[in-house]
Amino acid sequence: MEGDRQDPAPAAPPREHLQLLLRRSREAKNCAYCPYSRFPVGAALLTASGEIFSGCNVENACYSLGVCAERTAIQKAISEGHTSFRAMAIASDMGDTFIVPCGACRQVMREFGTDWDVYLTKADGSYIVKRLEELLPLSFGPEDLKKV
Ligand code: THU
Repeated sequence: MEGDRQDPAPAAPPREHLQLLLRRSREAKNCAYCPYSRFPVGAALLTASGEIFSGCNVENACYSLGVCAERTAIQKAISEGHTSFRAMAIASDMGDTFIVPCGACRQVMREFGTDWDVYLTKADGSYIVKRLEELLPLSFGPEDLKKV
């Protein structure tokens, strides 16, 4: 049913916006605080209004308190008043594998709709793009809470 969708599907970002988004995710990776894993990750989130919020992973000596790059970017955007997102790019140093968000991040992303794009990159800048719906099929979200 159409009513299951939070927002209409946003258009893919124009090419120049996409290049900037990819670059901002790589730049954010350079700020990663990951002395324990030594696995830097950067994320850049494009809002519906065209702004970009970036984030990196921030680890902690109390390991379980570490937060992923994707959630850092989302928390920055939300805390500045943005709740509608068009795309996210994610960067890591992996050369042969596209970086993918962990399950917890997929659920946090999904909170803000299932119709946006996630660009998964390799260190050389090549990428594949997945809809959130593909990354987290059959997901539970805020709409479900209204069904009881
Ligand atoms: N990490 C992210 O920030 N994003 C991902 O997509 C995967 C993993 C972080 C969490 C932790 O700081 C480090 O990478 C190793 O798991």
